[in-house]
Amino acid sequence: MTTVRIKELPQHVGEKVTVNGWLYNKRTSGKLQFPIVRDGSGYLQCVVFKKEVDEATWNSVEQVTQESSVRVTGSVRAEPRAPGGVELGVESFEVTQLTQDYPITPKEHGTAFLMDLRHLWLRSSKQHSVLRIRNEIEKSIRDFFYDRDFVLIDSPILTANAAEGTSTLFETDYFGEKAYLSQSGQLYLEPAAAAFGRVYCFGPTFRAEKSKTRRHLMEFWMVEPEVAFLEFEGLQDLAEEYVEYIVGRVLERCQEELKTLERDVSKLENVKRPFPRITYRDAIEVLKKNGIEAKFGDDFGGDEETVIANSFDKPVMISRYPVEIKAFYMQPDPQDPQVALGLDMIAPEGYGEIIGGSQRIHDHDLLLQRIKEHNLPVEAFQWYLDVRKYGTFPHSGFGMGVERVVAWLSGVPHLRETIPYPRMLNRIYP
Ligand code: 4AD
Ligand code: MG
Repeated sequence: MTTVRIKELPQHVGEKVTVNGWLYNKRTSGKLQFPIVRDGSGYLQCVVFKKEVDEATWNSVEQVTQESSVRVTGSVRAEPRAPGGVELGVESFEVTQLTQDYPITPKEHGTAFLMDLRHLWLRSSKQHSVLRIRNEIEKSIRDFFYDRDFVLIDSPILTANAAEGTSTLFETDYFGEKAYLSQSGQLYLEPAAAAFGRVYCFGPTFRAEKSKTRRHLMEFWMVEPEVAFLEFEGLQDLAEEYVEYIVGRVLERCQEELKTLERDVSKLENVKRPFPRITYRDAIEVLKKNGIEAKFGDDFGGDEETVIANSFDKPVMISRYPVEIKAFYMQPDPQDPQVALGLDMIAPEGYGEIIGGSQRIHDHDLLLQRIKEHNLPVEAFQWYLDVRKYGTFPHSGFGMGVERVVAWLSGVPHLRETIPYPRMLNRIYP
């Protein structure tokens, strides 16, 4: 007997097949039972007709409980009204394990309860859809860079360097020396850009952010491209092309998932180049116009970002932030040295900053000065300064937080549902 995944059943209409999975739901009407089986690839409506099966089979369907593991055999029939367009006329229904008291029932549950059961919650249709969208986003990221001849440079997770400020470091002991979990792979990519021209890294990053917001995780996945000889204007073009591409891929390949999540896709279909580009100084004016007090030098929090985003119907790129509120490595604007050639891209609909990037300082002495001004240990940055000593070159890059993009495209408000096992303030279980 051929074993088939539910997703592939439409190619097997008229055949007798076996499906392995778990009981998702069940409906009964007299002499007919309709168990719905899921196998991770889809949902299958099974039809059990009392006259067509033996008594043992009928009884096992009657007794089967939610999330019991099952092995079902029968013939595949076209049925336009069923999920996936097919149903299975059941001949045999074996229960591998009869599940007792599955804790997540179709009724409403509180978030804390579901988070404690995250390992089981992954089976629920909504969570399943979000993580499939994540899977598509991650594949589209790799395709985008691979197709444009970027080389993947896996950056280390254990590091001696603070890339994004010293206040959010997770510290660990490295054989008697201090080491940190990486906040960003950027510092390691810049030397690699001199070796390969176009590079990117994609991995987990860690920030001990003592803030309990829906937009922050302690462990999140970041993708970071870095390009030699790319200057600030080109960086904005790259960020825009890249975001348009990812959104297009999700719209094209995740239609089922977006439907399950009831995502308003018209908002996503609108995400086409060009995106609005404003400066930090313009953003201050937007805030003031909306009745929010803001002055040069203020950093924007989630609320400010949402007000700015709501003034546009596409992602908006804000550039040229004050040097003092941005990272030590950002190139000052030659036209206006108070501001840095850095950009943040803010997603629409209140999903916040999805991209942060900049042109990098490529002058050795200026970079050294900034390292000192930020009280960073110069010895630990000697290797990074080397990039400016041996054939320095203008270069730029950005970082995109994958979970924020998953949240935006899926339409789920909180990052905790965008990663299989979220690491949050006060949560490292399961
Ligand atoms: O703006 P950030 O801090 O930029 C950097 O780390 C640069 N080194 C990147 C680069 O230029 N190569 O972080 C980049 C992105 C943010 O825009 C946001 O999407 C995400 O990472 N991010 C977080 N996502 C979830 N939880 C957190 N705590 C995050 N912190 C940043
Ligand atoms: Mg940022």
